[in-house]
Amino acid sequence: MRELEKLKRLPPYVFTEVNRIKDAARAKGSDIIDFGMGNPDIPTPKHIVDKLIETSQDTKMHRYSASRGITGLRKANAKYYERRFNVKLDYDKEIIATIGSKEGLANMAQVLASPGDTILVPNPAYPIHAFGFIINDANLIHYNINSEIDLMSEISEKVENSKKDIKAMILNFPSNPTAEICSLDFYKEIVPYAKKHNIILLSDLAYAEIYFDQNDKPPSILEVDGAKEIAVEFTSLSKSFSMPGWRMGFAVGNEYLISALTRIKSYLDYGAFTPIQVASAAALNSDESLIDEIRGVYRQRRDVLVESFSRSGWTIPSPKATMFAWSSLPEKFKHLSSLEFSKMLIEKADIAVSPGDGFGEYGEGYVRLSMVENEQRIRQAARNLKRLMDE
Ligand SMILES: Cc1ncc(COP(=O)(O)O)c(C=O)c1O
Repeated sequence: MRELEKLKRLPPYVFTEVNRIKDAARAKGSDIIDFGMGNPDIPTPKHIVDKLIETSQDTKMHRYSASRGITGLRKANAKYYERRFNVKLDYDKEIIATIGSKEGLANMAQVLASPGDTILVPNPAYPIHAFGFIINDANLIHYNINSEIDLMSEISEKVENSKKDIKAMILNFPSNPTAEICSLDFYKEIVPYAKKHNIILLSDLAYAEIYFDQNDKPPSILEVDGAKEIAVEFTSLSKSFSMPGWRMGFAVGNEYLISALTRIKSYLDYGAFTPIQVASAAALNSDESLIDEIRGVYRQRRDVLVESFSRSGWTIPSPKATMFAWSSLPEKFKHLSSLEFSKMLIEKADIAVSPGDGFGEYGEGYVRLSMVENEQRIRQAARNLKRLMDE
C-alpha cells in the first residue's frame, strides 16, 4: 500500500497510550475512576430530549437539513448572545451552526489556512486548535498559557519575533486544558493589537457557561467594539446544556469569515439532523436556571475534588471555570514525567487522568482531571490516592 503523507503529521490521538493501559486494567477487573476524557456525564435536560422525540416523528424532518443551520436555530443563538453578552448578531450573516464546535474549528482552519501560512496557537491546547492547521499544511507558533505567564507579553513576543506574517491566532478562555480564564480587559487589548498586525482572531468559548463565581463569568471577545472586523467566536451546546453527543455548536462574528465557513460547509455537509437543530433551539431558549443546575454539579465536584485530594496530599489549584482541574504533579512524584505519573496512577490507584504533554510540550509536568465522575467516586479516588501517597 502507498504511504499516506498526511498521516505522518497526525500522530495517534493524544491519549492512546493511557487509554490502552486503562483498558488493560479494566480487563483485569479494576474499577478505574476516570478523570481522563472530558466527556460530560450529566444527562441532557428532559425538555430538550422531549423536543427531539416530538420533532423526529414528523417525516418532513427526515430530509436533508440546512448546512448553515435552520433559521430558528440561528435566531435562538442570536438571542442567546444578546441576553448573555449584550452582543447583537445578524442571524443571517453573522451566525452559522456547526456540527459541534470541533467541526467548526476544523473547517474554519481548512478554509482559512493555505500551505505555509503561520498560525499562533495556545500551548497546551485542545488538540484541534493545533491539528486543524497542521492537517492543512500551515506552520504553527505556540504561545504558553500556563498561569505564571503574562499572556499579552507572551503573545506580543511571539508575534514580534516571528519572521513570517501571522495570519490567525487562536484564543481559548476558559481554557481546555488549563482552566485558565481571561478578562474582558485582555480582549480589549488583544483586539486592537491583532487589528494592527492584521491577524484574524478565532476565539473558542466552548466553556462560556461553566464558571463558578459571578466575578469569573467568561466574556465574549465580541463584546469589544470593532471585534467583528477581525474575530470569529465558537460556542457549543456540549457543556452548557450537557449535549456532547448531539454535536451542536456555532461560529459567530465576522461576516466574511462566517460566509467562508458557510461556503466550505456547503460542500461538505447538509447540517445536523433537523430535529437536533429544533431541540438545540429549545435548549438555547431554556430558562437560565437550567444552565445553573449543570454549573452547580461541576462546582460541587470541583470543591469535593480539590478538598479531598488535598487531604490525601495532592494540592490541586481550584479551577475557576471549565469541567477540568489542571495541576502539577504531587511533590512526591515530581521526578516522573506526566505520562509516567498518569500510568502509575492507573496501575496503583485505579485513577485515570490525562497527561499534560498530550496537549502540547508546555503541558509537561502537569495533568488534567476532568470532573466527569460523581462526588462519591471522586471521594473514592481520594482514598485510593491516599494509599499511594502513604506507600
Ligand atoms: C476548548 C474546547 N473547544 C471545543 C471543544 C469541542 O466541543 P464540541 O465539538 O462538542 O462542541 C471542546 C471539547 O472538549 C473543548 O474542550
